[in-house]
Amino acid sequence: MNVLVIGSGGREHALCWAIRKSDLVDELFCAPGNGGIADEATCVDLNASNANEVINFCKDHAIGLVVVGPEAPLVAGLVDKLTGAGIKAFGPSAKAAQLEGSKGFTKDICAKYNIPTAGYKRCHSLPEALAYLEQVGAPIVIKADGLAAGKGVIIAKTLDDAQKATRDIFGGQFGEAGNSVVIEEFLVGEEASFIALVDGETVLPLATSQDHKRAFEGDEGPNTGGMGAYSPAPVMTEEMCSRVMDEIMIPTVKAMTAEGAAFKGVLYAGLMITEKGPELIEFNCRFGDPECQVILFRLVSDLVPALLASIEGTLDQISLDWHDQVAMAVVMAAKGYPGHYEKGNPIQGLKDASSGENIHIFHAGTAIKDGRIIAIGGRVLNITARGNTVTKARDLAYQAIAKIDWKNGFYRKDIGWRAIEREKD
Ligand code: AMP
Ligand code: GLY
Repeated sequence: MNVLVIGSGGREHALCWAIRKSDLVDELFCAPGNGGIADEATCVDLNASNANEVINFCKDHAIGLVVVGPEAPLVAGLVDKLTGAGIKAFGPSAKAAQLEGSKGFTKDICAKYNIPTAGYKRCHSLPEALAYLEQVGAPIVIKADGLAAGKGVIIAKTLDDAQKATRDIFGGQFGEAGNSVVIEEFLVGEEASFIALVDGETVLPLATSQDHKRAFEGDEGPNTGGMGAYSPAPVMTEEMCSRVMDEIMIPTVKAMTAEGAAFKGVLYAGLMITEKGPELIEFNCRFGDPECQVILFRLVSDLVPALLASIEGTLDQISLDWHDQVAMAVVMAAKGYPGHYEKGNPIQGLKDASSGENIHIFHAGTAIKDGRIIAIGGRVLNITARGNTVTKARDLAYQAIAKIDWKNGFYRKDIGWRAIEREKD
Protein backbone atom coordinates (compact mmCIF):
# COMPACT_ATOMS: atom_id res chain seq x y z
CA MET A 1 0.00 0.00 0.00
CA ASN A 2 1.17 3.57 -0.69
CA VAL A 3 0.76 6.03 2.16
CA LEU A 4 0.64 9.85 2.26
CA VAL A 5 1.31 11.74 5.50
CA ILE A 6 0.19 15.39 5.68
CA GLY A 7 2.33 17.78 7.73
CA SER A 8 5.86 19.02 8.31
CA GLY A 9 6.61 18.82 12.03
CA GLY A 10 8.40 16.52 14.44
CA ARG A 11 5.11 14.68 14.86
CA GLU A 12 4.95 13.91 11.14
CA HIS A 13 8.61 12.85 11.09
CA ALA A 14 7.83 10.37 13.88
CA LEU A 15 4.72 9.19 12.02
CA CYS A 16 6.72 8.67 8.82
CA TRP A 17 9.49 6.87 10.74
CA ALA A 18 6.93 4.49 12.29
CA ILE A 19 4.91 3.99 9.10
CA ARG A 20 8.07 3.36 7.05
CA LYS A 21 8.81 0.30 9.25
CA SER A 22 5.51 -1.37 8.34
CA ASP A 23 5.58 -4.39 6.02
CA LEU A 24 2.23 -3.19 4.68
CA VAL A 25 3.76 -0.07 3.15
CA ASP A 26 5.27 0.18 -0.34
CA GLU A 27 5.83 3.85 -1.07
CA LEU A 28 5.62 6.59 1.54
CA PHE A 29 5.02 10.25 0.67
CA CYS A 30 4.84 13.28 2.94
CA ALA A 31 3.40 16.68 2.07
CA PRO A 32 5.23 18.96 2.52
CA GLY A 33 7.62 17.12 4.88
CA ASN A 34 10.93 18.56 6.10
CA GLY A 35 14.69 18.04 5.95
CA GLY A 36 14.57 14.90 8.12
CA ILE A 37 11.39 13.39 6.74
CA ALA A 38 13.22 13.31 3.39
CA ASP A 39 15.16 10.29 4.82
CA GLU A 40 11.95 8.30 5.31
CA ALA A 41 9.58 9.50 2.61
CA THR A 42 9.37 11.28 -0.72
CA CYS A 43 8.49 14.87 0.18
CA VAL A 44 5.92 16.42 -2.11
CA ASP A 45 4.82 20.00 -2.43
CA LEU A 46 1.06 19.75 -1.91
CA ASN A 47 -1.24 22.36 -0.45
CA ALA A 48 -3.20 20.56 2.31
CA SER A 49 -5.81 23.30 2.32
CA ASN A 50 -6.65 22.45 -1.29
CA ALA A 51 -8.48 19.12 -0.99
CA ASN A 52 -8.72 18.65 -4.76
CA GLU A 53 -4.96 18.90 -5.09
CA VAL A 54 -4.54 16.21 -2.42
CA ILE A 55 -7.23 13.99 -3.97
CA ASN A 56 -5.62 14.23 -7.42
CA PHE A 57 -2.22 13.33 -5.98
CA CYS A 58 -3.73 10.33 -4.17
CA LYS A 59 -5.38 9.09 -7.36
CA ASP A 60 -2.20 9.56 -9.42
CA HIS A 61 -0.06 7.69 -6.85
CA ALA A 62 -2.49 4.93 -5.82
CA ILE A 63 -2.49 6.12 -2.19
CA GLY A 64 -4.23 3.56 0.03
CA LEU A 65 -4.02 5.56 3.26
CA VAL A 66 -3.71 9.27 4.09
CA VAL A 67 -2.62 10.22 7.62
CA VAL A 68 -3.40 13.83 8.48
CA GLY A 69 -1.04 15.18 11.17
CA PRO A 70 -2.07 18.75 12.07
CA GLU A 71 -5.41 20.11 13.26
CA ALA A 72 -6.03 22.81 10.64
CA PRO A 73 -6.73 20.48 7.67
CA LEU A 74 -8.80 18.20 9.97
CA VAL A 75 -10.97 21.09 11.17
CA ALA A 76 -11.26 22.25 7.54
CA GLY A 77 -12.67 18.85 6.52
CA LEU A 78 -9.84 17.23 4.57
CA VAL A 79 -10.75 13.76 5.87
CA ASP A 80 -14.41 14.22 4.80
CA LYS A 81 -13.33 15.20 1.30
CA LEU A 82 -10.84 12.34 0.93
CA THR A 83 -13.37 9.84 2.26
CA GLY A 84 -15.97 11.26 -0.12
CA ALA A 85 -13.54 10.61 -2.98
CA GLY A 86 -13.13 6.98 -1.89
CA ILE A 87 -9.68 7.46 -0.32
CA LYS A 88 -9.01 6.03 3.17
CA ALA A 89 -8.01 8.82 5.51
CA PHE A 90 -7.02 8.64 9.17
CA GLY A 91 -8.39 11.40 11.39
CA PRO A 92 -11.74 12.88 12.43
CA SER A 93 -14.36 14.47 10.19
CA ALA A 94 -14.72 18.26 10.37
CA LYS A 95 -17.74 17.84 12.60
CA ALA A 96 -15.86 15.60 15.05
CA ALA A 97 -12.75 17.82 14.88
CA GLN A 98 -14.88 20.57 16.49
CA LEU A 99 -13.63 19.05 19.74
CA GLU A 100 -10.42 20.95 18.98
CA GLY A 101 -11.79 23.54 16.55
CA SER A 102 -14.24 25.13 18.98
CA LYS A 103 -13.57 25.37 22.70
CA GLY A 104 -17.19 26.41 23.26
CA PHE A 105 -18.44 23.29 21.43
CA THR A 106 -16.34 21.09 23.72
CA LYS A 107 -17.42 22.88 26.88
CA ASP A 108 -21.07 22.47 25.88
CA ILE A 109 -20.50 18.74 25.25
CA CYS A 110 -18.88 18.45 28.69
CA ALA A 111 -21.80 20.25 30.34
CA LYS A 112 -24.43 18.19 28.54
CA TYR A 113 -22.77 14.82 29.22
CA ASN A 114 -21.35 15.48 32.68
CA ILE A 115 -17.67 15.33 31.75
CA PRO A 116 -15.48 16.94 34.45
CA THR A 117 -14.02 20.27 33.33
CA ALA A 118 -13.58 23.82 34.68
CA GLY A 119 -16.79 25.82 35.19
CA TYR A 120 -17.29 28.25 32.26
CA LYS A 121 -19.38 30.66 30.28
CA ARG A 122 -19.43 31.08 26.50
CA CYS A 123 -19.67 34.75 25.58
CA HIS A 124 -20.52 36.04 22.12
CA SER A 125 -19.97 39.77 22.71
CA LEU A 126 -17.57 42.01 24.59
CA PRO A 127 -20.21 43.53 26.93
CA GLU A 128 -21.48 40.05 27.84
CA ALA A 129 -17.91 38.90 28.60
CA LEU A 130 -17.00 42.00 30.63
CA ALA A 131 -20.17 41.71 32.70
CA TYR A 132 -19.38 38.06 33.46
CA LEU A 133 -15.79 38.93 34.44
CA GLU A 134 -17.08 41.53 36.94
CA GLN A 135 -19.20 38.82 38.46
CA VAL A 136 -16.52 36.09 38.79
CA GLY A 137 -13.27 38.08 39.24
CA ALA A 138 -9.71 36.70 38.91
CA PRO A 139 -7.70 34.49 38.60
CA ILE A 140 -9.58 33.42 35.50
CA VAL A 141 -8.84 31.89 32.10
CA ILE A 142 -9.91 33.54 28.81
CA LYS A 143 -9.94 31.43 25.64
CA ALA A 144 -10.59 32.43 22.04
CA ASP A 145 -13.13 29.91 20.76
CA GLY A 146 -11.40 28.80 17.56
CA LEU A 147 -7.93 27.65 16.44
CA ALA A 148 -5.28 30.21 17.38
CA ALA A 149 -2.05 28.22 16.88
CA GLY A 150 -1.80 27.52 20.61
CA LYS A 151 -1.84 31.25 21.50
CA GLY A 152 -5.52 31.78 22.21
CA VAL A 153 -5.46 30.99 25.96
CA ILE A 154 -4.76 33.73 28.49
CA ILE A 155 -4.37 33.00 32.19
CA ALA A 156 -5.33 36.27 33.84
CA LYS A 157 -4.14 36.81 37.39
CA THR A 158 -6.03 40.09 37.81
CA LEU A 159 -9.37 41.41 36.64
CA ASP A 160 -7.50 44.11 34.69
CA ASP A 161 -5.52 41.51 32.74
CA ALA A 162 -8.70 39.53 32.10
CA GLN A 163 -10.52 42.58 30.76
CA LYS A 164 -7.58 43.51 28.53
CA ALA A 165 -7.30 39.95 27.12
CA THR A 166 -11.02 39.88 26.41
CA ARG A 167 -10.91 43.27 24.66
CA ASP A 168 -7.92 42.10 22.56
CA ILE A 169 -9.72 38.93 21.49
CA PHE A 170 -12.94 40.71 20.54
CA GLY A 171 -10.76 43.39 18.91
CA GLY A 172 -9.57 40.82 16.40
CA GLN A 173 -6.23 39.61 17.84
CA PHE A 174 -6.94 36.07 16.67
CA GLY A 175 -9.20 36.94 13.73
CA GLU A 176 -12.36 34.86 13.43
CA ALA A 177 -11.15 32.45 16.12
CA GLY A 178 -12.02 35.26 18.55
CA ASN A 179 -15.62 35.86 17.46
CA SER A 180 -16.61 34.29 20.76
CA VAL A 181 -14.74 33.41 23.95
CA VAL A 182 -14.88 30.84 26.70
CA ILE A 183 -14.25 32.26 30.16
CA GLU A 184 -13.37 29.51 32.56
CA GLU A 185 -12.42 28.79 36.11
CA PHE A 186 -8.67 28.58 36.83
CA LEU A 187 -7.77 24.99 37.74
CA VAL A 188 -4.93 24.09 40.11
CA GLY A 189 -2.99 20.84 39.81
CA GLU A 190 -0.47 18.97 37.67
CA GLU A 191 -1.03 18.88 33.92
CA ALA A 192 -0.95 15.61 32.03
CA SER A 193 -2.16 14.30 28.73
CA PHE A 194 -4.02 11.19 27.68
CA ILE A 195 -3.86 10.17 24.05
CA ALA A 196 -5.90 7.39 22.46
CA LEU A 197 -6.89 5.99 19.09
CA VAL A 198 -10.64 6.01 18.57
CA ASP A 199 -12.80 4.35 15.89
CA GLY A 200 -16.17 5.91 16.70
CA GLU A 201 -16.73 3.45 19.53
CA THR A 202 -13.61 1.77 20.91
CA VAL A 203 -11.02 3.87 22.75
CA LEU A 204 -7.52 2.34 22.57
CA PRO A 205 -5.17 4.25 24.90
CA LEU A 206 -1.62 4.83 23.72
CA ALA A 207 1.33 4.84 26.11
CA THR A 208 1.05 7.76 28.53
CA SER A 209 3.11 10.91 28.03
CA GLN A 210 3.65 14.37 29.39
CA ASP A 211 5.02 17.49 27.72
CA HIS A 212 6.56 20.77 28.86
CA LYS A 213 4.65 23.65 27.32
CA ARG A 214 6.59 26.63 28.67
CA ALA A 215 9.63 27.97 26.84
CA PHE A 216 12.03 28.18 29.77
CA GLU A 217 13.42 26.06 32.57
CA GLY A 218 11.30 25.56 35.67
CA ASP A 219 8.22 25.63 33.41
CA GLU A 220 8.46 29.42 33.18
CA GLY A 221 8.02 31.81 30.29
CA PRO A 222 5.59 31.90 27.40
CA ASN A 223 3.54 28.93 26.23
CA THR A 224 4.93 27.03 23.23
CA GLY A 225 3.82 24.01 21.23
CA GLY A 226 5.95 21.94 23.62
CA MET A 227 9.67 22.04 24.49
CA GLY A 228 10.02 18.37 25.37
CA ALA A 229 8.12 15.28 26.42
CA TYR A 230 8.54 11.88 28.00
CA SER A 231 6.71 8.59 28.11
CA PRO A 232 5.45 7.00 30.31
CA ALA A 233 4.16 9.80 32.54
CA PRO A 234 4.40 8.70 36.18
CA VAL A 235 1.49 11.00 37.16
CA MET A 236 -0.76 8.82 34.99
CA THR A 237 -1.00 5.88 37.33
CA GLU A 238 -3.14 2.90 36.35
CA GLU A 239 -5.89 4.21 38.60
CA MET A 240 -5.72 7.70 37.05
CA CYS A 241 -5.79 6.22 33.53
CA SER A 242 -8.89 4.20 34.30
CA ARG A 243 -10.60 7.27 35.79
CA VAL A 244 -9.75 9.28 32.66
CA MET A 245 -11.14 6.49 30.48
CA ASP A 246 -14.36 6.16 32.51
CA GLU A 247 -14.98 9.82 33.30
CA ILE A 248 -13.69 11.60 30.19
CA MET A 249 -12.70 9.52 27.15
CA ILE A 250 -15.52 6.96 26.90
CA PRO A 251 -18.28 9.45 27.77
CA THR A 252 -16.93 11.88 25.13
CA VAL A 253 -16.77 9.25 22.40
CA LYS A 254 -20.32 8.14 23.25
CA ALA A 255 -21.47 11.77 23.33
CA MET A 256 -20.00 12.49 19.90
CA THR A 257 -21.80 9.50 18.42
CA ALA A 258 -25.05 10.60 20.07
CA GLU A 259 -24.52 14.07 18.57
CA GLY A 260 -24.16 12.57 15.08
CA ALA A 261 -20.42 13.37 14.96
CA ALA A 262 -18.79 9.99 15.64
CA PHE A 263 -15.11 10.56 16.46
CA LYS A 264 -12.39 8.62 14.63
CA GLY A 265 -8.69 9.30 14.81
CA VAL A 266 -6.52 10.49 17.71
CA LEU A 267 -8.32 11.93 20.70
CA TYR A 268 -5.90 13.80 22.91
CA ALA A 269 -7.16 15.03 26.27
CA GLY A 270 -5.18 17.80 27.96
CA LEU A 271 -5.88 17.28 31.66
CA MET A 272 -5.43 18.94 35.00
CA ILE A 273 -5.04 16.42 37.78
CA THR A 274 -6.78 18.35 40.56
CA GLU A 275 -7.58 17.40 44.15
CA LYS A 276 -10.94 16.10 42.89
CA GLY A 277 -9.35 14.02 40.14
CA PRO A 278 -8.82 14.48 36.41
CA GLU A 279 -10.51 17.47 34.75
CA LEU A 280 -10.47 18.22 31.05
CA ILE A 281 -8.58 21.36 29.97
CA GLU A 282 -8.96 20.81 26.25
CA PHE A 283 -9.24 18.21 23.54
CA ASN A 284 -7.00 17.96 20.54
CA CYS A 285 -8.08 15.88 17.58
CA ARG A 286 -4.58 14.78 16.55
CA PHE A 287 -1.32 13.46 17.99
CA GLY A 288 0.47 15.83 20.37
CA ASP A 289 3.78 17.24 19.25
CA PRO A 290 6.30 16.33 20.81
CA GLU A 291 4.26 13.64 22.64
CA CYS A 292 3.90 11.68 19.37
CA GLN A 293 7.69 11.43 19.07
CA VAL A 294 8.13 9.74 22.46
CA ILE A 295 5.04 7.55 22.12
CA LEU A 296 6.02 6.21 18.72
CA PHE A 297 9.65 5.76 19.79
CA ARG A 298 8.29 3.28 22.37
CA LEU A 299 5.88 1.51 20.02
CA VAL A 300 6.93 -2.05 19.18
CA SER A 301 3.82 -3.00 17.17
CA ASP A 302 3.14 -1.99 13.59
CA LEU A 303 1.31 1.37 13.64
CA VAL A 304 -0.37 0.99 10.25
CA PRO A 305 -2.93 -1.74 11.16
CA ALA A 306 -3.98 0.39 14.15
CA LEU A 307 -4.51 3.46 11.94
CA LEU A 308 -6.53 1.37 9.47
CA ALA A 309 -8.58 -0.12 12.32
CA SER A 310 -9.50 3.38 13.50
CA ILE A 311 -10.91 4.10 10.04
CA GLU A 312 -12.65 0.75 9.71
CA GLY A 313 -14.15 0.57 13.21
CA THR A 314 -12.14 -2.51 14.26
CA LEU A 315 -9.93 -1.10 17.01
CA ASP A 316 -11.38 -3.66 19.42
CA GLN A 317 -9.25 -6.23 17.56
CA ILE A 318 -5.98 -4.32 18.01
CA SER A 319 -3.56 -4.47 20.91
CA LEU A 320 -0.33 -2.51 20.99
CA ASP A 321 3.03 -3.53 22.48
CA TRP A 322 5.40 -0.98 23.95
CA HIS A 323 9.09 -0.91 24.86
CA ASP A 324 9.38 -0.99 28.66
CA GLN A 325 12.03 1.68 28.39
CA VAL A 326 11.31 5.35 28.97
CA ALA A 327 11.49 7.70 25.99
CA MET A 328 12.32 11.38 26.20
CA ALA A 329 12.37 14.09 23.53
CA VAL A 330 14.17 17.38 24.06
CA VAL A 331 13.19 20.08 21.60
CA MET A 332 15.84 22.34 20.11
CA ALA A 333 14.24 25.59 19.00
CA ALA A 334 15.52 28.72 17.27
CA LYS A 335 16.57 31.48 19.71
CA GLY A 336 13.61 33.84 20.09
CA TYR A 337 10.93 31.14 19.69
CA PRO A 338 7.96 31.35 20.41
CA GLY A 339 8.50 34.99 19.38
CA HIS A 340 10.54 36.21 16.42
CA TYR A 341 13.52 34.07 15.32
CA GLU A 342 16.06 33.90 12.51
CA LYS A 343 15.86 31.36 9.72
CA GLY A 344 18.43 29.80 7.44
CA ASN A 345 21.27 28.92 9.87
CA PRO A 346 23.09 25.66 9.16
CA ILE A 347 22.98 22.74 11.62
CA GLN A 348 25.87 20.28 11.79
CA GLY A 349 26.76 17.15 13.70
CA LEU A 350 23.36 15.47 13.38
CA LYS A 351 24.70 12.17 12.07
CA ASP A 352 27.17 11.80 14.90
CA ALA A 353 24.50 12.82 17.45
CA SER A 354 21.97 10.24 16.28
CA SER A 355 24.03 7.05 16.25
CA GLY A 356 22.64 4.00 18.06
CA GLU A 357 19.19 2.44 18.17
CA ASN A 358 18.21 4.22 21.39
CA ILE A 359 18.49 7.67 19.90
CA HIS A 360 16.71 9.31 17.02
CA ILE A 361 16.46 12.90 15.90
CA PHE A 362 13.04 13.82 14.60
CA HIS A 363 13.14 16.99 12.55
CA ALA A 364 10.56 19.78 12.67
CA GLY A 365 11.51 23.13 11.10
CA THR A 366 14.40 21.99 8.90
CA ALA A 367 15.06 21.98 5.18
CA ILE A 368 17.88 20.77 2.97
CA LYS A 369 19.81 23.51 1.14
CA ASP A 370 22.84 22.71 -1.00
CA GLY A 371 23.01 19.29 0.64
CA ARG A 372 23.07 20.77 4.17
CA ILE A 373 20.43 20.89 6.88
CA ILE A 374 19.28 24.40 7.75
CA ALA A 375 16.80 25.66 10.35
CA ILE A 376 13.66 27.23 8.92
CA GLY A 377 11.19 27.07 11.82
CA GLY A 378 10.66 27.81 15.52
CA ARG A 379 10.80 24.28 16.87
CA VAL A 380 13.53 22.63 14.80
CA LEU A 381 14.75 19.30 16.21
CA ASN A 382 13.46 16.67 18.64
CA ILE A 383 16.36 14.79 20.20
CA THR A 384 14.62 11.57 21.23
CA ALA A 385 16.21 8.90 23.42
CA ARG A 386 15.24 5.66 25.17
CA GLY A 387 16.68 4.47 28.46
CA ASN A 388 15.87 2.11 31.32
CA THR A 389 15.04 5.08 33.54
CA VAL A 390 13.98 8.67 32.92
CA THR A 391 17.40 9.78 34.09
CA LYS A 392 19.15 7.48 31.61
CA ALA A 393 16.94 8.58 28.71
CA ARG A 394 17.57 12.19 29.66
CA ASP A 395 21.36 11.71 29.88
CA LEU A 396 21.44 10.10 26.45
CA ALA A 397 19.35 12.90 24.91
CA TYR A 398 21.56 15.63 26.35
CA GLN A 399 24.77 13.80 25.34
CA ALA A 400 23.45 13.79 21.78
CA ILE A 401 22.59 17.50 21.95
CA ALA A 402 26.16 18.25 22.97
CA LYS A 403 27.27 16.91 19.57
CA ILE A 404 24.99 19.21 17.60
CA ASP A 405 26.52 22.36 16.23
CA TRP A 406 23.80 24.96 15.72
CA LYS A 407 24.73 28.43 16.88
CA ASN A 408 21.20 29.76 16.81
CA GLY A 409 19.51 26.98 18.79
CA PHE A 410 18.35 26.75 22.39
CA TYR A 411 16.78 24.02 24.50
CA ARG A 412 15.54 23.48 28.03
CA LYS A 413 17.97 21.65 30.28
CA ASP A 414 15.34 20.31 32.67
CA ILE A 415 13.01 18.20 30.52
CA GLY A 416 11.47 15.46 32.65
CA TRP A 417 12.26 17.15 35.97
CA ARG A 418 9.07 16.05 37.69
CA ALA A 419 9.50 12.43 36.60
CA ILE A 420 13.16 12.49 37.64
CA GLU A 421 12.22 13.80 41.08
CA ARG A 422 9.67 11.02 41.41
CA GLU A 423 12.31 8.51 40.30
CA LYS A 424 14.66 9.72 43.07
CA ASP A 425 11.88 9.13 45.61
P1 AMP B 1 -4.96 24.97 26.04
O1 AMP B 1 -4.53 25.62 24.74
O2 AMP B 1 -6.42 24.97 26.28
O3 AMP B 1 -4.26 23.68 26.30
O4 AMP B 1 -4.34 25.90 27.17
C1 AMP B 1 -2.96 26.18 27.21
C2 AMP B 1 -2.46 26.06 28.61
O5 AMP B 1 -3.15 26.98 29.46
C3 AMP B 1 -2.73 24.70 29.23
O6 AMP B 1 -1.74 23.79 28.89
C4 AMP B 1 -2.70 25.05 30.70
O7 AMP B 1 -1.38 25.19 31.16
C5 AMP B 1 -3.34 26.41 30.74
N1 AMP B 1 -4.79 26.33 31.03
C6 AMP B 1 -5.80 26.25 30.14
N2 AMP B 1 -6.97 26.21 30.75
C7 AMP B 1 -6.73 26.27 32.08
C8 AMP B 1 -7.53 26.30 33.26
N3 AMP B 1 -8.86 26.26 33.19
N4 AMP B 1 -6.92 26.38 34.45
C9 AMP B 1 -5.59 26.46 34.55
N5 AMP B 1 -4.75 26.45 33.49
C10 AMP B 1 -5.31 26.36 32.25
N1 GLY C 1 2.29 19.39 22.86
C1 GLY C 1 1.00 19.90 22.90
C2 GLY C 1 0.24 19.81 21.67
O1 GLY C 1 0.59 19.12 20.74
O2 GLY C 1 -0.80 20.45 21.59
